[in-house]
Amino acid sequence: MTRYNVAVVGATGMVGQKILQILEERRFPYKGLKLLASSRSAGRKIEVGSREYQVEEACPRAFEGVDFAFFSAGGDTSKKLVPEAVKRGTLVIDNSSAFRMSDDVPLVIPEVNPEAVKDHRGIIANPNCSTIQMVVVLQPLHREAEIKRVVVSTYQAISGAGREAMGELELQSSSYLEGGEVKAEYVPYRGAARNYQLAFSLVPQIDVFDEDGYTKEELKMIYETRKIMGLPDLPVTATTVRVPVFVGHSESINIEFARELSPERARDILNNAAGIIVSDDPENLIYPMPLEVADRDETFVGRIRRDRSVRHGLNVWVVADNLRKGAATNSVQIAELML
Ligand code: A2P
Repeated sequence: MTRYNVAVVGATGMVGQKILQILEERRFPYKGLKLLASSRSAGRKIEVGSREYQVEEACPRAFEGVDFAFFSAGGDTSKKLVPEAVKRGTLVIDNSSAFRMSDDVPLVIPEVNPEAVKDHRGIIANPNCSTIQMVVVLQPLHREAEIKRVVVSTYQAISGAGREAMGELELQSSSYLEGGEVKAEYVPYRGAARNYQLAFSLVPQIDVFDEDGYTKEELKMIYETRKIMGLPDLPVTATTVRVPVFVGHSESINIEFARELSPERARDILNNAAGIIVSDDPENLIYPMPLEVADRDETFVGRIRRDRSVRHGLNVWVVADNLRKGAATNSVQIAELML
């Protein structure tokens, strides 16, 4: 079997660490592994599988001889280093939003549009975490009954904002309970004009606002969904909310269809769709929740019920591990398509 040289950029971060773990779990055929991060981490030692690796600073030269590079170190790092990697013949799977909407960059969810990878020119983009888990569910339902409109509200875990933001929530929770001073620097985002306590609250803003009052996270869900599903005019609207959950994004999705689709039929379709687990038994109080989906690769769906306010509509509740299916698992699955 051919073996490849692999680099992970952002190897010390939440998603980078998960990528390393999943490369091992899925036995990705690598012969060399490079752990890249900022100069702050250069020299740090990290164990992957049973071997210890030394973190190197991510710089253009680091990509020489690298076959696959997984980028998860933010948009600025991707903008700077992805072209350098591509120039050196590396195939990049980019987890940032830097190239997602570029016409010549496929935006891929392996269960939904695997065929899109063949048009790549060195970069394949991994969609936004909230988009992935929504579209995994929308696509099979669309095939059956043609989606006319989607309204989504999200309940997003703090791990999506990175390791330091996650540490802040931990500290806020204990300080608040102990009556100590509560510090807030990472929500809605670092460097915002105001920062808010997330512990025991929630914040209806993820990323910056545009002139219409939508946040960048909401616009990503709208535009990325259209691109992946190949439906440039699909009406989609989103409200994205940060909640004090460590791992696992939840979404309440209202879907309007052109044709009849019963909840029973939808359950059937989703039961047979790749990467989905239907967890829907109201009688026994069974529905997906973040704590139970953490560390799972599948997308979980429950609360499937008719929306009686429109002719053909359903409400569904969708939960997935944002670090796995929302980021690392999806990225590694994309690389597997290229083997
Ligand atoms: P470092 O740990 O050296 O700062 P998270 O999203 O969990 O906060 O992780 C972000 C990841 O991106 C980390 O691995 C971080 O490395 C990395 N990173 C941040 N800035 C840069 C940069 N300028 N060049 C390379 N990697 C970076």
